[in-house]
Amino acid sequence: MISVKNLTKIYGPDNYKAVDNISFQVPEGSIACIIGTSGCGKTTTLKMINRLIEPTSGEIMAYNDNAKDYNPIHWRRKMGFVIQKAGLLPHLTVKENICLLSRILKRKETFIDKRVESLLETVGLDPSVFKSRYPVELSGGQQQRIGIARALMEDPPIMLMDEPFGALDPITRNSLHEEFTNLNQELKKTILIVTHDLEEAFKLGDQVILMDQGKIVQAGNKEDFLKRPATNFVKEFVGDQINT
Ligand SMILES: Nc1ncnc2c1ncn2[C@@H]1O[C@H](COP(=O)(O)OP(=O)(O)OP(=O)(O)O)[C@@H](O)[C@H]1O
Ligand SMILES: [Mg+2]
Repeated sequence: MISVKNLTKIYGPDNYKAVDNISFQVPEGSIACIIGTSGCGKTTTLKMINRLIEPTSGEIMAYNDNAKDYNPIHWRRKMGFVIQKAGLLPHLTVKENICLLSRILKRKETFIDKRVESLLETVGLDPSVFKSRYPVELSGGQQQRIGIARALMEDPPIMLMDEPFGALDPITRNSLHEEFTNLNQELKKTILIVTHDLEEAFKLGDQVILMDQGKIVQAGNKEDFLKRPATNFVKEFVGDQINT
């Protein structure tokens, strides 16, 4: 379970509200998708939940734990984080990138070898071809898939993903969507995905959260958005992206 209450982030001398008093919950084992136009506060929200950015105010809970009771490094280990544009370390190989945290946690090399191989297969990359490559030798979509594998490495109960399927062509994206939903029926993780693709949000999310200018304008499922748009902005946003 992830729960966010009255979360706010204010930047700079002009008091710019990047995230403006938002509250939502992602129930255990479910997937929520945050969607919205560029600059509406999606990444800032995810980074606050992960404590890469400290909120100006508000409460963040993961299961029964309150973020304020932890130091950021220990808090972060509770959740896998797939950052926008993959964020791989350029001087490390694919394998070293995936197992970075496991090395810090001093896992056995035999465990690391097996798990890296199986995760590469999960994201559709042949381990014998890819595990020794460097990020610069990968396409954008391949880097994203390594980012997903890295977040899954320590099998965290919570996953935060910032546009994880953004740089993929429709065919690869669809097959990864499918693997991802199948995987989660088994793993039952609590997942928060940022996307700017409404079709993707409806397909993957049990709940879709639409943001605009730092605020949540509507949260619900596909039917809520199509049949009961909360505002004209929602109507236009949905109308522009979905041909009904
Ligand atoms: N360090 C910062 N200082 C000042 N303003 C910032 C800072 N970081 C982000 N912002 C602003 O906060 C707003 C929200 O940024 P954020 O990265 O959360 O957007 P986003 O919804 O993820 O957009 P995109 O879809 O383009 O990734 C933007 O207007 C951005 O310019
Ligand atoms: Mg972003």
